[in-house]
Amino acid sequence: MSGQTRGAEPGEPGSAAPAVDGRTAGAPPTYRADLAAKPPKLRVKGLSVTYIGRDGHETEAVRDVSFDIEDKPGAGEIVVFLGPSGCGKSTILKAVAGLIPPTAGDILVDGHPVTGPGRDRGMVFQAYTSFGWLTVRDNVEYGLRLQGMPASERRALSDQYLASVGLTEFANRFPKDLSGGMKQRVAIARTLINQPRVILMDEPFGALDPQTRWGMQGLLLDVSRTMDNTILFVTHDVSEAVYLADTIYVLSARPARILHQVETPFFQNRDMALKSAPEFRAVEKRLLDMLYAPGAATA
Ligand SMILES: Nc1ncnc2c1ncn2[C@@H]1O[C@H](COP(=O)(O)OP(=O)(O)OP(=O)(O)O)[C@@H](O)[C@H]1O
Ligand SMILES: [Mg+2]
Repeated sequence: MSGQTRGAEPGEPGSAAPAVDGRTAGAPPTYRADLAAKPPKLRVKGLSVTYIGRDGHETEAVRDVSFDIEDKPGAGEIVVFLGPSGCGKSTILKAVAGLIPPTAGDILVDGHPVTGPGRDRGMVFQAYTSFGWLTVRDNVEYGLRLQGMPASERRALSDQYLASVGLTEFANRFPKDLSGGMKQRVAIARTLINQPRVILMDEPFGALDPQTRWGMQGLLLDVSRTMDNTILFVTHDVSEAVYLADTIYVLSARPARILHQVETPFFQNRDMALKSAPEFRAVEKRLLDMLYAPGAATA
């Protein structure tokens, strides 16, 4: 992971050191041939999005957001965006998904420009988005069916993913028979089963009770550690951010800009006990200070 400033590639002569953890690193820029040779898994560079309404009214949602997520084969990564309501978090994810064209800037996956939705990215939306006319199982198998996977293989995989989100008993029901949190779990299974390189999750656990939410957080950590995916995750919940993230970007109020980059120190050790550990609480407090201190994220 590396944040970057606009104008020069990270590691190139003349590029500025990224601001990490609210401080600007003082080390002089160095040229890294290994990074230069391999494109990042995801590069967002100078992303700005301004919506223009039918009446011509302009809403600037995202301003000059840049970050790189390096490709680390065999190791997943969870990057969390934390920021006030309405600041532009969903807009950033939708732009990476290829659903909203940037007003300015570039988005590249494995070096290839994003020009629309693609199978290398999968998104779990903030609102429930199951297909109402398909059963839970057919919803989960939808992407595999589009890929032409034989029914027996689809079935084996959907069994696995339905079990992992706790919906085995509901495989043959329709979304209208499910609660909001259950519908969201269908959407999560439907996205994970396709194993996209980049998974975009927009407050996916907001509708879940605490116990189910913890279970889903555990599932996500397992997925990211075992499947080599990069997950971009949006949440309002500071504790959830610290628990899941390898890297947290704290965003400003609208238009979203990256104010801070925080690396969490818990990569190998994440269990429930961690949430009450002093070092965990210390990161939570730092983030809360960043979000709510006068002139900070709400500036
Ligand atoms: N389709 C749209 N047309 C016009 N304005 C939009 C559109 N979608 C979002 N906006 C505006 O862009 C800004 C950012 O919206 P966005 O949904 O990205 O925020 P958010 O950080 O995800 O908020 P929340 O935390 O409440 O989900 C808001 O002011 C919103 O009103
Ligand atoms: Mg949103």
